[in-house]
Amino acid sequence: MNTILVGLQWGDEGKGKLIDILAKDADFIVRYQGGNNAGHTVVVNNKSYVFHLIPSGILHKDKTCLIGNGVVIDPEALLGEIATLKKEGIEYHGRLKISSQAHVIFPYHRILDSLRESKRHLRIGTTGRGIGPCYADKVARCGIRICDLFNPKLFSQKLKDNLNEKNDIFRKAFHHQGFRFEALYRQYRAYARKLKPYICNVPLVLAQAREGGKSILFEGAQGSFLDIDFGTYPFVTSSSATAGGACIGTGVAPTSIDKVIGVVKAYTTRVGEGPFVTEFKAPLNDSIREKGREFGSTTGRPRRCGWFDNVMVRFSCLVNGVSEMAVMKLDVLDELKTLKICTAYKYKGKTFTEFPYDLEVLTKAKPVYEELAGWQRNISNVRYYAELPDNAKRYLDRLQELLKVKISYISVGSKREETIIR
Ligand code: GDP
Ligand code: IMO
Ligand code: MG
Repeated sequence: MNTILVGLQWGDEGKGKLIDILAKDADFIVRYQGGNNAGHTVVVNNKSYVFHLIPSGILHKDKTCLIGNGVVIDPEALLGEIATLKKEGIEYHGRLKISSQAHVIFPYHRILDSLRESKRHLRIGTTGRGIGPCYADKVARCGIRICDLFNPKLFSQKLKDNLNEKNDIFRKAFHHQGFRFEALYRQYRAYARKLKPYICNVPLVLAQAREGGKSILFEGAQGSFLDIDFGTYPFVTSSSATAGGACIGTGVAPTSIDKVIGVVKAYTTRVGEGPFVTEFKAPLNDSIREKGREFGSTTGRPRRCGWFDNVMVRFSCLVNGVSEMAVMKLDVLDELKTLKICTAYKYKGKTFTEFPYDLEVLTKAKPVYEELAGWQRNISNVRYYAELPDNAKRYLDRLQELLKVKISYISVGSKREETIIR
C-alpha cells in the first residue's frame, strides 16, 4: 500500500503526529518537497521531537526514511538534525537515505530570502530558510544538486557561475558585500563528505521496495494552500505541496499510488502573510492560540487562527484526490460554546461557494458561517468515536457530509495515544 499524506490547509495541520502513527504499518517514509521550512512534531512518551528535513517516521527503528529529489536540502541544517538524532540515542544508521538529485541550499539563498522580504511591499512572511531562492535556481537551471558537490570540477564551475551573477545582484540591489568562492567551496565539500554515506538513488530504492511488496508512506510538508500552483499565490511556498508533488519529488509513478490521506486541523491556522477569510478576531484568536499552542514549530512565530473553512478544504480534497481524512486538534475546541464552519464567501453582493483565486476577492471576502453547538467537555481521554460527546460527533459528521470524504482519524491531543482510529 502506497499512501500520500498531505496537509489540506496552510500547513501545521499535525502531519508529523499522523506520519508517526501511520509509519507503524509502512516500510519506507519519504519526504518529497519543501525543506527545513517544515516543522513536524511527534510526541512520544511525553517527549516532543520536531523534524524539519528528516522524515517523521524515524522514531520507528525498523523503517527506512528517505529524502527525495523534490526536497531542497540545507546541509548544515540536515547535519544538525542528524547530530540531534545521535544525541537522543535514535539509531539511524543504514536507514536514512538522501537523493543525490536534491538541490542544495547555500547561504546566498538564505540571505536573499531575507533581503527580498525586507524590500517588498507584498511581504510573504517566509521562514527565511532560503527555500524560495533555492527552488528558483533549480528552475533557472543554475541550481547545485547534492551529486554536484562530489564532482570538484563541476561544483567549482557551477559555484563560480552562481557567485559571478549573484554577487552583482547582492552588491547592486541590496548593498550586500556578496560571497567568496574559496570559503563556500571548502565548506560545502566538507558537507559532501559527511553526507556521502546517506546518498542513494531514490527512484531505484523505491522501485525495489515496490517489487518486494513493501509499503511506502509519502510525507507531505506545508499544505495545499501553500502550494506554488494551487495556493494563495504569491503568499505560498515554492514547491508542490499537493499530492501530485509526491510523484515528481521521488520518482514514483502516479499509477503506484493507492491512497491519499488529507490532514486538517479542526479549525484553521496560518503563519506568515496572506489572505485568511475565517481569521478570528481577538480575544478568540488569543485563546485558541494559547489552548492549541499555535506557535510555529520552525520559527516560533505566533500562528494566526480561524474557523474551519469548508470552501478551502473542499477544493483541497479535489486537487489532492483525497480518499480519507484526518481531523487533528479537535480537543482545542473543547471549551467553545458555539462552533462555526465557513460554507461560502461573500464579496460585492456575490456568493462564492467555490474557492476564488482572485486575491482581491480573497482579501476582502466575508465568510458565510453555519453554526453548531459546542460540547464544552474535555475530550482528550476519548479513544473511541462512540465515546465522543454528541456535539463533537455532530461537528465531525457535518464536516464529513460537507466534504464527502470519510474521516478515518481524529486527534484529541498531541501524544501518539491521543488518537481515535475509525
Ligand atoms: P505539522 O507541520 O503538520 O507536522 O504540524 P506541527 O507539528 O507544526 O504543528 C502541530 C502541533 O499541534 C504540534 O505542536 C503537535 O504536537 C500538536 N498536535 C498535533 N495533534 C494535536 C491534537 O490533536 N491536539 C493538540 N492539542 N495538539 C496536537
Ligand atoms: P509544515 O510542513 C506552515 C509558510 C511561511 C510563509 C510561506 C513561505 O510544518 O506544515 P517559505 O519559507 O516556505 O518560503 O515561506 O509558507 N510556511 C509554512 N507554514 N507550516 C509549514 O510547514 C510552512 N512552511 C512554510 O510561513 O508564509
Ligand atoms: Mg509544522
